[in-house]
Amino acid sequence: MIRFFEDFSLKNYNTFGVDARARFFFEFTELDDLTEFLQQNTSWKEERLLLLGGGSNLLLVNDFDGLVIHPNVPGVQVVRENRNQVWVEVGAGEDWDRFVDYCVKAEFYGLENLSLIPGNVGAAPVQNIGAYGVEVKDYVDTVNGFDLDTMTNYSIPAEQCQFAYRDSIFKNELKNRFIVTSVIFRLEKFPEFKLDYGSLKAEVEKRGELHPQHVRDAVVAIRQSKLPDPSELGNAGSFFKNPVVAAELAEKLKAAYPEMPAYPADAGRIKLAAGWLIEQCGWKGFRDGDAGVHQHQALVLVNYGSATGQELFQLSEKVKASVAEKFGVELEAEANIL
Ligand code: EPU
Repeated sequence: MIRFFEDFSLKNYNTFGVDARARFFFEFTELDDLTEFLQQNTSWKEERLLLLGGGSNLLLVNDFDGLVIHPNVPGVQVVRENRNQVWVEVGAGEDWDRFVDYCVKAEFYGLENLSLIPGNVGAAPVQNIGAYGVEVKDYVDTVNGFDLDTMTNYSIPAEQCQFAYRDSIFKNELKNRFIVTSVIFRLEKFPEFKLDYGSLKAEVEKRGELHPQHVRDAVVAIRQSKLPDPSELGNAGSFFKNPVVAAELAEKLKAAYPEMPAYPADAGRIKLAAGWLIEQCGWKGFRDGDAGVHQHQALVLVNYGSATGQELFQLSEKVKASVAEKFGVELEAEANIL
């Protein structure tokens, strides 16, 4: 199935709920429909492109003067298994959390720490989504999709996806070029628990025996206590990445602010908590019109109703400037700002 519109409102296609418009909007559920559309409409090559999944990591500052492609490929199927593991292929258009729920019930384990992350399956490898000590890269086997440059579809094994913290080849070399149509995950038949993050272990233990369903329930409860539900309050999750800084800067800051959270990162560098830095600058719970900083998690910008993309962007710039001024730390947006 395909759907094609001109001058289309993206309000229901971004979790900030910003009412920006796309000049062209194309949605497909089957790869054949996509290839047929692209062959028949060669003028798309001249257009700016936006590959849009669930829109849960996107700030639309302006209308989009180009072609939005929304892969909505459905389907979940087991493609291979052995005694310990199972490979599951999932369409890019499936809702991420519904898939995690299905896995836990089917006793396919590994993704339970990633419960309740908004968005579609196709975006999970693009962003290398992560939470509570797990990144999706640990369970991605292969990413399947269509390359707009070569006009062919092919599979990319996880080793070639250049996964890093909230980053992958799909945000770099293959940006606006490779349309993810499905992802194959390699999941475990016997649970492996990763409970070291924050209060997760305590939350799981409250629920009785150690079971992946209890991990899922605990993660859902923690997220619900801190993170706003996009269907109730527009937001794009963490707006900034947690900054990774030089050890010297981290030490200097730690001396001035002994309670500052800091975690070892690669190459002797230190990861700081952007939410903490932003809260220290006094932004938590701030609201100007309908644009605000969430009251329980300062890393999350929120739209109380009719904030424009411009207003949210301006707020993000102010937050960024104040963190740079107070701590000498440059925040980098995690959300895709367009
Ligand atoms: N903190 C504050 N004030 C705040 C927010 C956080 O002091 O307003 C402190 C917390 O007390 C804690 C530390 O900062 O000591 C880290 O906070 P939290 O555990 O809430 O996680 P985070 O680092 O702010 C990251 C991810 C989230 C993910 C959580 C849990 C990024 C950019 N964000 O947030 O991912 O759910 O860890 O693993 O890495 C997302 O990417 O959209 C997202 C929500």
